[in-house]
Amino acid sequence: MTRKLTLLITAAAAALGLAALGVAGAALSQGPMIPSATPHALTPPQLLTLPTPPSLPNAAQVERGRYMVAAGDCVSCHTREGGPTLAGGLGMNTPFGTIYTPNLTSDAATGIGHWTPDQFYRAMHEGMGRHAPLYPAFPYAYFTHISRADSDALLAYLKTTPAVSYTAPGNRLPFPLNIRFMVHGWNLLFFKAGDFQPDNTKSAQWNRGAYLVGGAGHCAQCHTPTNVLGANDNKKPFHGGELDNWVAPDLTANTRTGLGAWTSADIVEYLKTGRNGHAQAGGPMAEVVSYSTSLMNDADLAAVAAYLKDLPASPAANHPALDTGAMKRGAAVYSDACASCHLEKGVGQARYFPPLAADAVLQQDNPAGLAHLILAGVRTAPTTTRPSPLTMPSFAWKLSDQEIADVSTYIRNSWGNHAAAVNAQQVAKMRKALDLRTIHYTVNSGDHF
Ligand code: HEC
Ligand code: HEC
Ligand code: HEC
Repeated sequence: MTRKLTLLITAAAAALGLAALGVAGAALSQGPMIPSATPHALTPPQLLTLPTPPSLPNAAQVERGRYMVAAGDCVSCHTREGGPTLAGGLGMNTPFGTIYTPNLTSDAATGIGHWTPDQFYRAMHEGMGRHAPLYPAFPYAYFTHISRADSDALLAYLKTTPAVSYTAPGNRLPFPLNIRFMVHGWNLLFFKAGDFQPDNTKSAQWNRGAYLVGGAGHCAQCHTPTNVLGANDNKKPFHGGELDNWVAPDLTANTRTGLGAWTSADIVEYLKTGRNGHAQAGGPMAEVVSYSTSLMNDADLAAVAAYLKDLPASPAANHPALDTGAMKRGAAVYSDACASCHLEKGVGQARYFPPLAADAVLQQDNPAGLAHLILAGVRTAPTTTRPSPLTMPSFAWKLSDQEIADVSTYIRNSWGNHAAAVNAQQVAKMRKALDLRTIHYTVNSGDHF
């Protein structure tokens, strides 16, 4: 074997390793995403809205830290199904193995009780753990923009949380990904530590929105597509991304697939209550809304909206002509299975059964999220303002892959909607990926399985 060939093989192996890590970084697989009440005395929203005793010497800092825990959605990742809030142990599935989130409660032995502000800031700002680099499934690529004062406040708050003694299971990653120092390679390619840089040509409100969206909120981690090495493709910011078999839609000004038709008030209502006249937050966005955005104040939500409304539109896509047979069959499935809730002509009932005409979620170029929600069903995020969990039932057991493909093609191309046709293979692939026996989205709907 020539030396050149050996080199090539080594390079390919290294790239594969990095690709795997990148995917690990991008995959925000958090298991079933439905916020569930924990047996712990306090549910996450209760813990995050608890007043700070004014007698604490650093009460203002602790209060600020509590707010930043909401802004950073720490609870969604650092709380396992049914486990105590922030005690960790959630397995984040990646195609290569599972990474478990650590305990962030004040427990000295197993949590962050002994961490110093410098150690904590290094984790947030540089992705460096106390002993070794942290995997990019922890969104430090965004948290690096969190200010030192907010980082110190986060730690001050976490140190006031009820101590829970719990150590998450060891990660299950194959060689060489189990070697943490591999992360240095990923960081070299895709990560640059740095403070938030304000844009002086924009308003203070826009800059506050940019700080929240691009820092603690890490919204782009889901809403931006990923490149072949699994890092966010910053040439297509907020054009929509895929994670954990869901599609996080385009958030740009595109009027078909993005937020072009939403007002700032619509965005604020969605983030605050989980619903608005256009859409309802389900899938992975349900936890973001329940544990993060619904707990943010109105001024900050308006800032987030101002920033999002200023994103330039993604390019409009052209789609080939459709098969009229699929449209006819899809219309029949729609009348039978969907019209009882979403009504004829897809008009829906705003804030209860989302209107499907002019809906962006179902017109995404990538139909995977649509197939997912029809197969598995979906539940709207409960929030303090809108606590009732509305549910769409699962259709996996009622409709074939072809029927789901046809009804998808139909709703993507009716009532003014326009998007590429969906085929049965795409649905079959999602059905297999979901392994529906482990998903219980529809327990409230009377649809037992
Ligand atoms: C998208 C999921 C996700 C979110 C959101 C998230 N984390 Fe994490 N975090 C992780 C994962 C995964 C790890 C473990 C990484 C590893 O093992 O290398 C981690 C590790 C950490 C660590 C290192 C702890 C240790 O014992 O080494 C700290 C500190 C931390 N997170 C703080 C936070 C804070 C504060 C927030 C909210 C502002 C937050 N995280 C939000 C996924 C997340
Ligand atoms: C864990 C991944 C994830 C993160 C983080 C995330 N989102 Fe989302 N988001 C989604 C998914 C998935 C959907 C689609 C929800 C659905 O189908 O009901 C969505 C939907 C939305 C929508 C509605 C779009 C539409 O057309 O209906 C808005 C607005 C939105 N997200 C804003 C944000 C903002 C702002 C942030 C950061 C504070 C954020 N998201 C963070 C995954 C995410
Ligand atoms: C029992 C009532 C019910 C039936 C029947 C029903 N849905 Fe839904 N659907 C809902 C509810 C409630 C939501 C809101 C869930 C969420 O996204 O948070 C929803 C959400 C959706 C969405 C996402 C819209 C958005 O912007 O968030 C689509 C697309 C959709 N349904 C399509 C269908 C199709 C196709 C069918 C028939 C195969 C169907 N639905 C049948 C109740 C229903």
